[in-house]
Amino acid sequence: MTALKSMSRHQVRFMLNGQPAESEAEPRLLLTDFLRHQIGATGTHVGCEHGVCGACTVVIDGMLTRACMTLAVQIEGCDVRTVESLAPAVDRLGILQAAFRKHHALQCGFCTAGILMSLDHFLRGNPDPSEEDIRVLLSGHLCRCTGYTPIVKAALEAAKDMRTSSANNEPAHV
Ligand code: FES
Ligand code: FES
Repeated sequence: MTALKSMSRHQVRFMLNGQPAESEAEPRLLLTDFLRHQIGATGTHVGCEHGVCGACTVVIDGMLTRACMTLAVQIEGCDVRTVESLAPAVDRLGILQAAFRKHHALQCGFCTAGILMSLDHFLRGNPDPSEEDIRVLLSGHLCRCTGYTPIVKAALEAAKDMRTSSANNEPAHV
C-alpha cells in the first residue's frame, strides 16, 4: 500500500463519467467533498456522512459505493460514475430521471441522486425486477419526503421502458 503523508496534498487521477479528471486531495478528504468541492460535480449529495442514508451513492469500478465512506485518494486510477452520467444531454433526462419526474418520485431531492445511482446499477443487471426487488434495493436509502411508493412506481416503469428501448436497440440506460 502506498504511504501518504497526512499533511500533503496528492494528485488524484481518475475517470469521471467517461472523461479523465484530476485534482489534489489531502489523504483525509472524503470522496463526497472531493467530487463536490474540488471537481465541481455537485450532483452527488451528502446526508448523514456515515454510510447510512445512501444520498452519496456512486459507482466505482462497477461497484455501488458510499462516497462518504471513501477517501478521495482511494479512487486514483478508478472509473467513477455519478448521477451526472444519467442524462444523455444537458437538456434531456435519462429514462430513470424522466420516470421520477412523471411519478413525482422526489420532493426535496436530497436522497434522489443516490437512489437513481443504485437503481441504474441494479436495473443494468436485473432488467425485469419485481416490486419486492425494488423495495429491498431501496432499503439501503433513506427518503424523508416521498413515502417511497412513487419511487417504486417510477422504478418499475423505468425498467419497463428500458426493456422496450433495449428491444428496439436504443440506449437502455439514458
Ligand atoms: S451521506 Fe453517505 S450514506 Fe449518508
Ligand atoms: S425526496 Fe426528500 S429525502 Fe427523498
